[in-house]
Order: sequence, then C-alpha cells, then structure tokens
Amino acid sequence: MTPAGAALRAEAARVLVAVLDDGRSLKAVLAEVLPTIADGRDRGLLEAMVFAALRFERRYAFVLNDWLARPLPMKTSKDRAVARLLLVGLAQIEALKLSPHAAVAATVDAVKLLGREGLAGLFNAVLRKATREVWPVPGDPATAASHPAWLVAALRNDWPEHWQAVLAGNNTEAPLWLRANAPRVERDTLMARWATENIEAQSGAAAHSLCLAERQNPAALPGFDDGAFSVQDLSAQLAVEALSPRQGMRVLDACAAPGGKTVQLCAAVGDSGEVWAIDSEPKRLARVSAALRHLAPSAAVVHVRAADAADTARWSDGERFDAILLDAPCSATGIIRRQPDIKVHRQPTDIPVLVALQRRLLDALWPLLKPGGRMLYATCSVLRDENDRQISAFLARTPEAALQALPTVFGLNTGAGSQRFPEDGGGDGFFYALLEKSPSSS
Ligand SMILES: C[S@@+](CC[C@H](N)C(=O)[O-])C[C@H]1O[C@@H](n2cnc3c(N)ncnc32)[C@H](O)[C@@H]1O
Repeated sequence: MTPAGAALRAEAARVLVAVLDDGRSLKAVLAEVLPTIADGRDRGLLEAMVFAALRFERRYAFVLNDWLARPLPMKTSKDRAVARLLLVGLAQIEALKLSPHAAVAATVDAVKLLGREGLAGLFNAVLRKATREVWPVPGDPATAASHPAWLVAALRNDWPEHWQAVLAGNNTEAPLWLRANAPRVERDTLMARWATENIEAQSGAAAHSLCLAERQNPAALPGFDDGAFSVQDLSAQLAVEALSPRQGMRVLDACAAPGGKTVQLCAAVGDSGEVWAIDSEPKRLARVSAALRHLAPSAAVVHVRAADAADTARWSDGERFDAILLDAPCSATGIIRRQPDIKVHRQPTDIPVLVALQRRLLDALWPLLKPGGRMLYATCSVLRDENDRQISAFLARTPEAALQALPTVFGLNTGAGSQRFPEDGGGDGFFYALLEKSPSSS
C-alpha cells in the first residue's frame, strides 16, 4: 500500500473527528479538506469512506464494542482520530467492499501514521476479523439502521407503513441529479451533446431533470462552465413545478439560498417577470446572486435581500405577489443520504423550534399573496409536524386558504399536502403543499 493510501485513511479519520467529536458540519469540513487533495480519485475515495463511516457509525460502534476488550481512549485529538480510524476501516470493508487486503493494510499503516504504532497489532486483528467473521447484529432497530433512537421513534409514529423504507433510503448513496438550464438549454439538446462524448444520462420526472448513468464530477462535464445545467435534486426541482409560476408574474422566493429554485423561478417568469429572493443568511445569499450570474436564466427583474422573511415590513415594498415559494428551513430529515451528519447533529429539541419558525413564516407571508394567488410550502423533511400537521393547522386558522391537490409524482397524498420519501435512484424526501388564496379575499 502506498503511503498516500494510508495518509488518505488518516485524513478520513480526522474528518470524522471534526464531525463526530467537534460537532462540525460535514459539508464545511469537506469544503476545507477536499481542495487540499490533488488527485480526483483520492478525493472520491476520501468522500466515500467518510460518507459510509457516518452512514453506519452507530452500527459500527456496536460491532466494535462487541469485538474490543475495552473501548479505545478518547482523551486527546490523536486518541479520537485513532478511534475514528476503526470506523474508516469497517466502512472500507463492509460498505465500500474494497479489497480486504488493501483496506486492512492501508488502515494499519494509517494508525502508524497517526503516531500510534503500538496499536497496529490490534487494528490488524480487528480488521481481519471484520473481513472473515459474521458481524454481530444489533437487536434494536435504531442501532441496526444506524439512526438516533428519537428519529426512528418519530418516523415509526408518523409512517407506520413506510418508516423502514425511509431508514433504508437514508442509508443509500444519493444519485446525482442535474437540471438542464431551460429555456437556455433544453434537456434533449444537452443529452444529445453528451451522447457525442459517450456521457450517458437519463431523464427524470421533473421537466428538465437528468441523472448520469455513471457518477462523475459535474464541474468536469461539457456545458458546466457555460451554465448549460446545474446540480439540483429531483424532488427540489419538482417544488417549482408544483407552484407552476407563469410568464410575467411577480414571485417571492422567501427562503432562497443557495438559489437553485430562484433560478427556476426566473426562468419560469421570463424576461417580463419579477422575482424577490429573500434569505436571512447573507453569506448563503451571495450564492443566489452567483447562481443567477452563472446560469442567467432570464432577464427578469430580481431583488435579492438579506432579511428575516417574516419581518415583511423590513424588506417588502408593499406590493403583493402572484405566487410565493416558501421553501422553509426544516430538519432536513429527507436528505440524510446526502448529509449523513444530520443523524449526528439534529436533536429532537430542534423540531418544535423549527415548527414555530415555519408557522411564523407561513403566517407572515400569507398576507403578501394576491387574492387568487398561490403559495407553495415545501420542506426537505419527512417529519409530519413540519409538514402535513403544520399545513392542517395553517388551514384551520386561515379560512381564505384552500389546499390544491397535486399529481402523484409529488408523492403520497397525506390529506394536507404530498410527501415524497428518499427513493433509491430517485429524489430526496420532500413535502409539498400548494395553497390557493380565495379570489374573493381582501
Ligand atoms: C431549505 S433552505 C432553502 C433552499 C433554497 N430554496 C434552494 O432551493 O436553493 C432554507 C433557507 O431558509 C433560510 N432561512 C432560515 N430562516 C429564515 C428566515 N427567517 N427568513 C428567511 N430565510 C430564512 C436559511 O438560511 C436557508 O437558506
């Protein structure tokens, strides 16, 4: 095994320490670490090891607890990196199915690289055992599915028929969905262009969606630099389709950053339209402007504002909107397969706080909708408190709001909106509720 292979495993262990022990977000840590790795294949392997280790961390911890005579020390950062390296080892063997010999050798070399030569024998024994023996199976469903117990209980309660499929979906690798930047570049044109370079892609259920047959770096694909497409999950693309804004409309994107849906809205309202993009995070909002510059979807007038969207007096010019997209801040429990660290960082106490914020946004934004206008409330959550229960309560206190039915592509009809679950080869978990304001309301 090359020293580079061992260094990569040690780096993966340090990423896990940052996420599991220091409480940092995986996305933020990878954004720092990946640019320091020169080789594209090495970057891919590091990501794969880290994602798999986080996806199955709870189950791997259970297995190690069974196999180790005593837990490894966790006092110093070096201790923690060594302990997390064992997760990296198991991930290579089980989830990634790397050559057992190479996985064991590189991980044992990595423990030496981390300055714990004395543990090389233990690592060798545990990892070789992992390649040869049947692993112990946890009795409780939460550990077996490597999810926190509170989340499994909530999913079980919310979806008695679907919770196991949701857990399984959360532990799969997310497909890479792209969106052809229509009307500038149509999906068929893009697919035909790629076909000439033997890049195979399939179309998906959203009008401009595409999924690559083989995973690759989207930035290296033909058309990336000139804004022919963008990266956006299938279910996220469907949100704007549910709202179906038309040419010339004045539309609000209330929680806009990083701007995937702002781009879609600008394309839909066309050159004669107007889009307001609000987000409370100025740093994230900068990405909205960057996406609009890069993809130039239309010549629509765009107002980008950093503000609490619910504080309408602060940012609104007093004119009402034909359509509002409220892509609300949420638990992100529908995108765990893309961000497995959500299983580590999200706490049950976050949910009521998010529910209150969503409620505040719904109530504050509703008066900004014109009579006869439509609001789409969406989340990337699979928890009913944030989704259909939130909308049932809104409908009960808002007599001029009527729920519009959505076609089955938007998921399971819950009676107060449509719920998609993370689907193998499909889109993320997502919720959509299309609300129409009575034309006779004031
Ligand atoms: C689900 S993300 C939006 C994704 C975005 N619509 C897209 O498609 O790229 C939710 C966003 O809500 C923002 N947010 C949270 N609280 C907010 C508030 N009170 N007002 C406006 N934006 C808020 C967050 O900063 C975050 O960017």
